[in-house]
Amino acid sequence: MAKRWEEQLDTAKSYLDKAAKKMKKFADRKRRPTYYGVGDMVMVKFNPRQFKALRGMHQNLICNDLKGSKTDLAQQEREQVVQDRRDTSVYPREPESLKEIRSITANLLEFYMGATPDSGQLIAMLLNLINAKRTIEIGIFTRYSVLLTALIIPDDGKIIAIDPDRQSYELGLLVIQKAGVEHKIDFKDSPALPVLDKLLEYNENRDSLDFAFVYANKTNYGNYHERLMQFVKVGGVIVYDNTLWYETLVMPEENVDKLMRAERKYFLELNKFLAADTRIEISQVSVGDGMTICKRLF
Ligand SMILES: C[S@@+](CC[C@H](N)C(=O)[O-])C[C@H]1O[C@@H](n2cnc3c(N)ncnc32)[C@H](O)[C@@H]1O
Repeated sequence: MAKRWEEQLDTAKSYLDKAAKKMKKFADRKRRPTYYGVGDMVMVKFNPRQFKALRGMHQNLICNDLKGSKTDLAQQEREQVVQDRRDTSVYPREPESLKEIRSITANLLEFYMGATPDSGQLIAMLLNLINAKRTIEIGIFTRYSVLLTALIIPDDGKIIAIDPDRQSYELGLLVIQKAGVEHKIDFKDSPALPVLDKLLEYNENRDSLDFAFVYANKTNYGNYHERLMQFVKVGGVIVYDNTLWYETLVMPEENVDKLMRAERKYFLELNKFLAADTRIEISQVSVGDGMTICKRLF
């Protein structure tokens, strides 16, 4: 998100409040005072996802302990390329309602979970290429990708949208209503697997969908894949997000944050599995956090 840090004070403040609580806890344990004021340097530990997302937003405010190293410079260059792409090719074409969803999402503590606008642009292109009418989405959050899909499919098109987090979903409600596309979205307030299994009990749901987008709990992607292959028509498309898992797939495990290791291992396996699945044609692209596009062949 191209906002300057001054415009993101609420998010920054909530991180600092959290950090202050942690420091107080630490100080209480060590019996040291924790008074600090404006101008003091505060160290906050982010997980890699937060770091990557926040650095773009708080340029010059956030640095990492690799600053100046070759690794850090290469990473900064990659981030600059992404930022330039967004500024030049993505933001000028992004519908106003999607910008609104992004700005609602930017104020949340979990803002980094929102789909990136460049991933959205790629999804829009795929939907248009296949004239998608009926779609399914697993992992909705504040509805960025659901809204962009709803804006593209025809008026009698349908999106089955599954997510157990109704609270985040409700945040995008007004924008969806204003855009006049609410009737195209069938929201299922539940974890995805039971919903998919229930829907598959009805034969008419098999081979009925043109497109599926998965951006949810990672370690279930394999289970989703087997079911989505039954929902999506031959020639239809399934897209998995996060398949590069914050560039951790190419790192030695010991260099990866502990919180991300289970998913890293999972994606290494999943990517091999998808590559070997002869039922699909695939292309993995490094847009957003990596997306694997699968076309059902038979
Ligand atoms: C990265 S966000 C999705 C981003 C969204 N597609 C967008 O456009 O901003 C991941 C979402 O997956 C949801 N999720 C987690 N576990 C899930 C499950 N078992 N079934 C379906 N959704 C799940 C979370 O509640 C969260 O909203």
